[in-house]
Amino acid sequence: MNTTYQNHFIKSCSQPDEFWMEHADIISWIKKPSIPFEVLPNGATKWFPDGELNTCSLCLDVHIDEGRGGQTAIIYESPVTNTVRSYTYIEVLREVNAVAKGMIDRGLQKGDAAIIYMPMIPEAVFTMLACARLGVIHSVVFGGFAPKELAVRLEDAKPKIIFTADAGIEIQKTIHYKPMVDAGIEISNHKPDCVVVLNRGLSDQCTVTNRDVKWENFINDGFFIPATQVASNDPLYILYTSGTTGKPKGIVRENGGHAVALKYSMEHIYGVKPGEVYWAASDIGWVVGHSYIVYGPMIHGATTMLFEGKPIKTPDASTFWRIISEHKVVTMFTAPTAIRAIRKEDPNGDMIKGYDLSHFRTQFLAGERCDADTLEWTAEKLGVPVIDHWWQTESGWPMLGQCIGYGLDPVKPGSANFPIPGYNVQIIDEQGQPAAPGEEGLVCVKLPLPPGALADLWQDTERFERSYLSPVPGYYFSGDGGYRDEEGYVFITGRVDDVINVAGHRLSTAEMEEVIAANANVAECACFGIHDELKGQVPMAMVVLNHNSCSIDELVPELKAAIRSDIGAIASIKHIIEVARLPKTRSGKILRKTLRAIVDGHGYQIPSTIDDPAILEEIEQKVKTQINTKTKTI
Ligand code: COA
Ligand code: AMP
Repeated sequence: MNTTYQNHFIKSCSQPDEFWMEHADIISWIKKPSIPFEVLPNGATKWFPDGELNTCSLCLDVHIDEGRGGQTAIIYESPVTNTVRSYTYIEVLREVNAVAKGMIDRGLQKGDAAIIYMPMIPEAVFTMLACARLGVIHSVVFGGFAPKELAVRLEDAKPKIIFTADAGIEIQKTIHYKPMVDAGIEISNHKPDCVVVLNRGLSDQCTVTNRDVKWENFINDGFFIPATQVASNDPLYILYTSGTTGKPKGIVRENGGHAVALKYSMEHIYGVKPGEVYWAASDIGWVVGHSYIVYGPMIHGATTMLFEGKPIKTPDASTFWRIISEHKVVTMFTAPTAIRAIRKEDPNGDMIKGYDLSHFRTQFLAGERCDADTLEWTAEKLGVPVIDHWWQTESGWPMLGQCIGYGLDPVKPGSANFPIPGYNVQIIDEQGQPAAPGEEGLVCVKLPLPPGALADLWQDTERFERSYLSPVPGYYFSGDGGYRDEEGYVFITGRVDDVINVAGHRLSTAEMEEVIAANANVAECACFGIHDELKGQVPMAMVVLNHNSCSIDELVPELKAAIRSDIGAIASIKHIIEVARLPKTRSGKILRKTLRAIVDGHGYQIPSTIDDPAILEEIEQKVKTQINTKTKTI
């Protein structure tokens, strides 16, 4: 472990106040903070409580004032619509002002909420920044979510306004956004005052009603909108993420800590300089999109790539390498699933060879566990360091990884590397104590959490405390399991709760169970994630049917369609099989972990708490006949 990193890490833990005040000095505050942080009675940390700033101004005005307004801020690459367009910082500010003025004209003000349900287009970024400019709290909803999911978020965030578009393109399929917004509002008990619709000319299903305003009639060009002064702890956005119940969690991100953390991470974790091109190939509907498509690169004054496409089929598996080459990307960030998809199409990496990648320095991976094989293949084919790093919607920026800015340590495939300064990551054993090297336990972070990490859930402090602070007193509980080796490398082994990760998308199996259990033919069910070569995990379900129900063969298409229409296409469930009974503990808890082990063909121990071990044998037999597997009991 290099000593520069070590010294910074140690200081961030022993003197977090001094460490972060130094880094806070680098951003332009409207009112500089004098207090580093406050710890609330429940253990949550509020960073820079007396500071005031504006995040949009940090992303735009600061660079323009420093004379870099002519630099490219955003490169929009959309292979699905054959579009490439660039915007300078000055041009982005003009667009953002026009959206902000439209919002002011309709009475929006600081503290109001807005939902953004849009594809990966520049207008979505302008809208996020316009919200930030006015202190309006945005909540971006991923386009892959169905109307019902949108309705849940509408009811929780209670937005005054929704921004949408007619459609997006997923490879070759048109995703009609506007009808989904209409359906979401219909189901929701909360109705926004107005829906702003950007018509890209891609859909024949884009009806505009009295409640709707066309984008071109909404925006109001030609004004300079002063950035609203907000408190460091005022919310910038709410981002909903899957939890262990049917209701998603509204992660609240506060302005001050977020800006400081992202600026720090761009320089020290990613090793990117202002003016360089940085690319996070994610979606603005996920935290990666918020932090590293929009706010991180723009606060840092880098050029960000906004990519409306897929790693494959848009048009082929060379797209990533072409973009890196053509736009001089120095650092890229994607999910292991994307690399596995590319590798499947181009196993020898032949498509990389035609491109000049000499300027490309580092490939980062995150969003799901990265198997050693995928990491090694990427490093060999690209000839640059490949860094797996671990984080969550809750943290907002990496908790484990390597800090390129402090110097690179050897990479150990399979490991998400070392704790990032600010995150005192510890593995906690069953007794609530730090685990020995090699011993698996819960991955936790010793409090206080650093700037940028969550300090609450949207209007649900009780759930925040119950989910993250109560499980291991004195620590933030991540929901992941893992271990640390003798040399300090941390390995994440996966979620220890009912959250799964499908193609880098975080989903709740509890939510899927709710949808399946709502079918009148189903007596009870268990959903869990099973291993998938491409997507890392995919969901599957075991169902117990009611007497007199229809046959499972008739029911499966119905259940799959219900998951798709209630949650979204991304929750594509792989297998649904019928079982006579589900294995449970004596207190009635379904043993999902054991079911997963049976299907994945891992050895499993018969849990001592099981009420009837014979059920496992029945299920093993069923799985063997219906899904190919090599199960062994230990
Ligand atoms: N809007 C609407 N629908 C979407 C969507 C979006 N933004 N994203 C995915 N979907 C739909 C897909 O069209 C697909 O629908 P279908 O079943 O009708 O074909 C379904 O959701 C499943 O999508 P996905 O899991 O992405 O599988 P895929 O086979 O379409 O694509 C990959 C496979 C590997 C190309 C794709 O999963 C991928 O690019 N993964 C990387 C994701 C990533 O970068 N995650 C990082 C988050 S930090
Ligand atoms: P999300 O909040 O959608 O970013 O998902 C966070 C979850 O994804 C984590 O709790 C992990 O389970 C998983 N995850 C993210 N990055 C990694 C990684 N590098 N290695 C293993 N798991 C990861």
